[in-house]
Amino acid sequence: MSHAISRRAWLRSSGLLAAGALLSPAAQALAPAAALLGRPAAPTLIKLSGNENPWGPSDKARQAMRAAFDDCNRYPNDYLKALRAQIAAAEGLTPEHVLLGAGSTEILSLAGLAYGAGGGQLVSAWPAFPLLMQYGAEHAKADWVKVPLDANLAHDLPAMARAVTPATRLVYVCNPNNPTGTVLPAAPLRDFCQRMARQTTVLVDEAYLEYLDDPAANSMADLVRTGQNVIVLRTFSKIYGLAGLRLGYALAAPAVVQRLSRLAMGWAWGQGVPALAAAQASLADQEFVRSSRRHTRAGREALQSWLTQHSIRHAPAAANFVFVSLEQFPASFPDDLLQRNLQVGRVQEVNGGKWSRISIGTPEQMKQLTAAMAGLRQA
Ligand SMILES: Cc1ncc(COP(=O)(O)O)c(C=O)c1O
Repeated sequence: MSHAISRRAWLRSSGLLAAGALLSPAAQALAPAAALLGRPAAPTLIKLSGNENPWGPSDKARQAMRAAFDDCNRYPNDYLKALRAQIAAAEGLTPEHVLLGAGSTEILSLAGLAYGAGGGQLVSAWPAFPLLMQYGAEHAKADWVKVPLDANLAHDLPAMARAVTPATRLVYVCNPNNPTGTVLPAAPLRDFCQRMARQTTVLVDEAYLEYLDDPAANSMADLVRTGQNVIVLRTFSKIYGLAGLRLGYALAAPAVVQRLSRLAMGWAWGQGVPALAAAQASLADQEFVRSSRRHTRAGREALQSWLTQHSIRHAPAAANFVFVSLEQFPASFPDDLLQRNLQVGRVQEVNGGKWSRISIGTPEQMKQLTAAMAGLRQA
């Protein structure tokens, strides 16, 4: 039996031939492996659970990625250098103040390890994005002090200040906050960071900063510029629409950047050429950022006014998602929506109530969402 025939026989017996025969050669080349393996494709799932940008990546980022393919035989040194320099120039800092990570997730993990080491105390609001504290608690035996959000589901800065002790190694602030979407006004936050930074390290996670009308005025990056003990965290996963490429960055004192990068598994080379090229092009494409902000705001306001019209409680939202009370819905809300091809955030308990975080999608997706939600409301 020739090799070709035996391969064909094997394909037939495994069912792959039947699946592949339905596709043109070009489609076969492009079809995801899952489809060729006979698993049902799920192209109709409307994903409103990951706070991603449904309009991304920008055309310029796509072009930059394609052009960068030709350089993928080389290590990314030049790309790393160029992106750090570009971020530094945009922030009025030096490249030594910029730490790149495989998503901001990697940097949160590094900070959890570094500051949680030996049972170090980590203070955060709760609920907030948990990764740094979780990672620190799991891998460095950190002691996680959770400070409940206030009645408006925003950070309670006075209570957080009271929770800081001489044992506190890091205070984590998520602004805007995930999952609630609330934003802290810049002046009290800046005052809080300055006061806390005299006692400990403050990390401000600005993953959703670019969704605010005036990102620069709301950023705490000026505290890094003036040499205070503050780390600012950003990501290319949200408004830049590059979540699948895994790229984030921190702005911090050069000694902090060195300390964290020494812990990184990929050393200083943990990011790939296409991601670095796409990030450079995305940073330069502020028109795409502005249009994403506009579209997101329109979708967010439409969803909020629909919720208000139907007396469905929700937190004041500043980013690309809305935190919605489930008091009018069955406990099976996320599963019920999934059956209608809509994926939203899991059920979370806050202040004694149940909530779900819903990301902003395209107008068509939001129409399907509100139609499905209307059908699920309990009298
Ligand atoms: C507040 C916040 N920080 C960090 C991240 C991690 O994002 P990434 O690792 O994609 O940069 C997320 C993701 O949802 C987030 O919401």
